[in-house]
Amino acid sequence: MNEPKELNSTVEIHISGEKIEAREGETIASALWEAGMGKSIQIGCGGGVCGACVVSLRFKDGRPGGTDLACMRLVEEGMEIFPFPIESIPPIEPVTDPTSDKLRQVFPTLDRCTKCGSCTTACPMSIPVMDSVLRMQKDELLEVAEDFNTCIHCGLCRVVCEDRVKPHNMGIWVRRSLGKSQEFDQLEKQIESSNEVENKDWDYLLEGDSEERLLRAKVFRKEGSRP
Ligand code: SF4
Ligand code: SF4
Ligand code: FES
Repeated sequence: MNEPKELNSTVEIHISGEKIEAREGETIASALWEAGMGKSIQIGCGGGVCGACVVSLRFKDGRPGGTDLACMRLVEEGMEIFPFPIESIPPIEPVTDPTSDKLRQVFPTLDRCTKCGSCTTACPMSIPVMDSVLRMQKDELLEVAEDFNTCIHCGLCRVVCEDRVKPHNMGIWVRRSLGKSQEFDQLEKQIESSNEVENKDWDYLLEGDSEERLLRAKVFRKEGSRP
């Protein structure tokens, strides 16, 4: 049987070669803050959403190193951490009715993919990045938009790609282009008609004297509609 772990037991980690002590069970970001080294990584949301805090990692037991989010990843004994600031690149304007060919025009990098799989391995959100690049080549853009639904724009898939394919920039371009192509007429009509109903309800609740209004409000709350 495993011995119960001591509360507040510590582990030793290394940040860019500098040794610090961290509490077992805390995140890398928290350990750095505690050690007064918060400025050694970038932090945004602090909750795995924004992708600002990317780091690369090496492990003491020889497991293959990898990439992760410092605000989510827990420390472990002997972990070596290297901050990994990702330079953003200017966004490329989306188009309506996107296709693979339109994507190629703005991202000629699309066909450079050598299917090495590094982008998929690096993605902290478990997005099948390489498969999605192949879908982009085959014009399966609705599926691509789904793939990148949970992308937090950390940029790791771009940084690890030796062929500079820029997978997530393309994925986001696809999502924005499909969004730009949506028909909003129907949606606007629905909003207009729901506003009409809502206005009638307000008129009903607010007209008459205060006794009458109170009575109507009670009925409305109970029934959920006007009698
Ligand atoms: S890292 Fe680059 S080359 Fe490798 S699979 Fe991903 S997109 Fe293709
Ligand atoms: S797809 Fe790329 S940018 Fe998006 S979360 Fe994964 S690694 Fe980060
Ligand atoms: S700080 Fe936003 S994902 Fe880590």
